[in-house]
Amino acid sequence: MPPLLSVQNASKSYSGNKVLDNAWLELASGEAHALMGENGAGKSTLIKLLAGVVTPDIIDLKLNGTPIQIRSAQEAFVLGLRFIHQELNVVPQLSVAENLFLQSVYPKRFGLVDWRSLNKKAKTMLSGLGIEHIAPEKKMARLSTGDKMLVKIAAALLGEANETASVFVLDEPTAALSSEETGRLFELIGQLKTRGCAVLYVSHRLEEIFALCEHVTVMRDGKTVASKAISETKQSELIELMTGRSLQQVYGKRGESVFQDVLLDIQRLESQKLKGIKFKLFKGEIVGLAGLAGSGRSELLRAIMGVDASRHEILLEGQPFLASSPSSSWEQGLAFVPEERRAEGLVLSHSVANNVALPHLNQMSHGGVVLKRRLQAKKARALTEQVRLKARGMGQKVKELSGGNQQKVVFARALAASPRLLLLDEPGRGVDVGAKVDIYTFIRQLSQKGTGIILASSDLTELLGLCDRILILHEGKQVALVKAQGLSQAELLGLCYQTKAAA
Ligand SMILES: Nc1ncnc2c1ncn2[C@@H]1O[C@H](COP(=O)(O)OP(=O)(O)O)[C@@H](O)[C@H]1O
Ligand SMILES: [Mg+2]
Repeated sequence: MPPLLSVQNASKSYSGNKVLDNAWLELASGEAHALMGENGAGKSTLIKLLAGVVTPDIIDLKLNGTPIQIRSAQEAFVLGLRFIHQELNVVPQLSVAENLFLQSVYPKRFGLVDWRSLNKKAKTMLSGLGIEHIAPEKKMARLSTGDKMLVKIAAALLGEANETASVFVLDEPTAALSSEETGRLFELIGQLKTRGCAVLYVSHRLEEIFALCEHVTVMRDGKTVASKAISETKQSELIELMTGRSLQQVYGKRGESVFQDVLLDIQRLESQKLKGIKFKLFKGEIVGLAGLAGSGRSELLRAIMGVDASRHEILLEGQPFLASSPSSSWEQGLAFVPEERRAEGLVLSHSVANNVALPHLNQMSHGGVVLKRRLQAKKARALTEQVRLKARGMGQKVKELSGGNQQKVVFARALAASPRLLLLDEPGRGVDVGAKVDIYTFIRQLSQKGTGIILASSDLTELLGLCDRILILHEGKQVALVKAQGLSQAELLGLCYQTKAAA
């Protein structure tokens, strides 16, 4: 049987710059197919060729074995292809309902648009995605990014106009969604698969892809470098394919040195959630926190930082340390990069310079406002260079940056304090693999300068690649503290689950 959709020899240049170079892709009926690659690999451009919104230099397309051409968005629609593009291409001046039915003929009564019936249909469509909180009459412009994405998803996946479509393409749909909303999207995708449709899915989130997809195609520098069944690959291989580097190049080489000086000595730590925490962290050491969701990894970081209250006896370089509040912890040389960096870490509407300087404003409070601004920008520039931030300038608003670059801003800020101890919660999550490599390189460099690092992660590859030792938590209890070197993924997972296999 031929693939449902076959894309061969896709090439596209922009003013002599080859963005797609003989890329190819084959989608089978009834499968979710992941399209992966670093930022700039050409994923979105390939998708735009299929959508008829960008003209290819060369492309050979077949639908169910029959050669086809896609010269406009209308042609793509008629062929049964549906798209959720990465950029939010909604019509902001129109209502939610109007955006949902952009491609359809509005219901009419006496020759006029029947708004009541349109809004009612829109409500039904939204509830198909479990959405009750978005009013159909509301102007698109007034919705949050996440809600706009939900409307786009409903518009492309649900309703009569999409019932006969066979190929659905989703370009990074979950970046702005909550985990609950993501779950509902996955249910919908499951239904599309059962219907025999093909779903092309772009995401940086490896766990998502392993949970959702049957197949994966990897692009690098405009070329297709691999296409594999998900069951025949693993995260580490995908990372190597996307970056074109070996895992050791991605995570950096662990130092040979034996750690000598104790930085942090947690003699006892207990809180509502945590029990039996007791370990030492050496200067320059990276200790990972592993465990299942809810095992207490984030809670432990938050307790050490003083965000949450705990009863503890802790020494920091031999001196008693009291984790009483985040600000006092910052002052004593701790820095924290939380998981929910959008919520807890960054002021999205502020500039890069402002965000980098947030906790350090006091240090710079002498002198006039102008001097302070200039100092701030200068310091921010030096720090963001270290983390290889890609931004137009220090004045650019953080909300305009990609997820990877937002994460780099949080890192730059943590760096500004020259921390003795850096606490990281899911440093690689929601970040494209290219930015990940920068972040890992940078974590490695900091540790080599003597900073102690505690890193909570659910990415086993990341834990095994970066850490010297790994502390395993289970239901709030410390259950093991092991050397990372030589440990396999299966052994680590076994420890997280507390199964016999690992004991
Ligand atoms: N309209 C355009 N003009 C010039 N260059 C572009 C245009 N669109 C994309 N590119 C370039 O093409 C490359 C691939 O981009 P893209 O397809 O968006 O990658 P991905 O989606 O994999 O991150 C990037 O280097 C990008 O800068
Ligand atoms: Mg893209």
